[in-house]
Amino acid sequence: MTEETIKILAKAGDTPLTTSALPFSAAREDHSRGVQRFAWLVLIYNVAVILWGSIVRATGSGAGCGEHWPLCNGTVMQHSPRIETIIELTHRVTSGIALVAMLALLAWTFASTAKRHLARFFVIAAAVLTFNEALLGALLVLLGKVAHDQSASRAVYLSLHLANTLLLLAALAFTAHFLSRERGFMRGSVEYRAQGVASIGLLATLFVGVSGSLAALGDTLFPATSLGAALAQDFSAKSGWLLRIRWLHPSLGFLAGAFICWLIFTSAWRGRNRSLAMGVVGLLALQYLLGFADVALLAPTWMQIVHLLGADLLWIALVVLTARVCIVPIGCTESICHLPFAGLRSK
Ligand code: HEM
Repeated sequence: MTEETIKILAKAGDTPLTTSALPFSAAREDHSRGVQRFAWLVLIYNVAVILWGSIVRATGSGAGCGEHWPLCNGTVMQHSPRIETIIELTHRVTSGIALVAMLALLAWTFASTAKRHLARFFVIAAAVLTFNEALLGALLVLLGKVAHDQSASRAVYLSLHLANTLLLLAALAFTAHFLSRERGFMRGSVEYRAQGVASIGLLATLFVGVSGSLAALGDTLFPATSLGAALAQDFSAKSGWLLRIRWLHPSLGFLAGAFICWLIFTSAWRGRNRSLAMGVVGLLALQYLLGFADVALLAPTWMQIVHLLGADLLWIALVVLTARVCIVPIGCTESICHLPFAGLRSK
């Protein structure tokens, strides 16, 4: 049976799906456990590096190495360094290790997969985004967009940095996911479903994250002494634009959250994706709780880190759920893969 025949029969909804009926590329195949584990490990390690990056911003340590990059204060060895220098230097060293780990993952993925494997595409994207991340980080330091800098261009750089960070996590999550999949990991053996709505859901979450990085910059530059003072700052005509747009972040968070819940309830609430879908909704609820605690406690550094960790986990879970629901092996019938938005289509 050809790939095309399987596709047509599957669309008619009457394909008895067996491994023997699948083209070679869609058949069950186990990758080396080593490369799968390594891919998930690189993803977790990157989350840790990102959280440390947030400590750099929240503690105003971005200028801990002066305006020097890659050297720190113009030298390699630091004699009696300040705490800001230690924080910034740690971020540079751990980011360097992330870069090496990324290159190792790239090589290992190519060595252990066949041509047209989807993990190859995503690992290349992850490598490009890692270099981009390093470039944006270096520019922040070299152009002095750190510590107490209040320029509008710093906000632009930080937004780009956060967007790049989330895209990098997405590329790594897709890589690890496709390496771990038993079926449907080759171009030509998968079909893409409901790409439009799923992309809007992911993009909306990305925007929530970017608006959050601006709220975080506002909290760092203009710390408030009480909740009342923080709310007054938000709505005072005398405040800078960074504080006056702070309300946008929770508002976008609720809008995007409502959209994601709608997507999940209509596409992934039953069938084999149910537990992951419930996990995403749980993480979303937790993120709201953390957001309110963040505001009430006046965004202490530890709370910012926990809120960012929540955002990263929510994002990764959402990306994996999207991959599971929207990129499925050709010939997957509703009973096996569950068609997303089947109810909506038939209306
Ligand atoms: C979908 C839900 C949400 C997501 C994905 C999200 C994500 C984020 C992200 C990525 C940051 C930037 C952290 C950094 O750069 O260090 C942030 C900051 C922030 N968010 Fe949220 N957020 C969500 C909901 C909320 C809600 C509902 C509130 C408040 C009611 C809130 C309050 C804050 C505050 C005050 C900050 C600045 C302080 C900090 O960095 O923690 N967030 N958020």
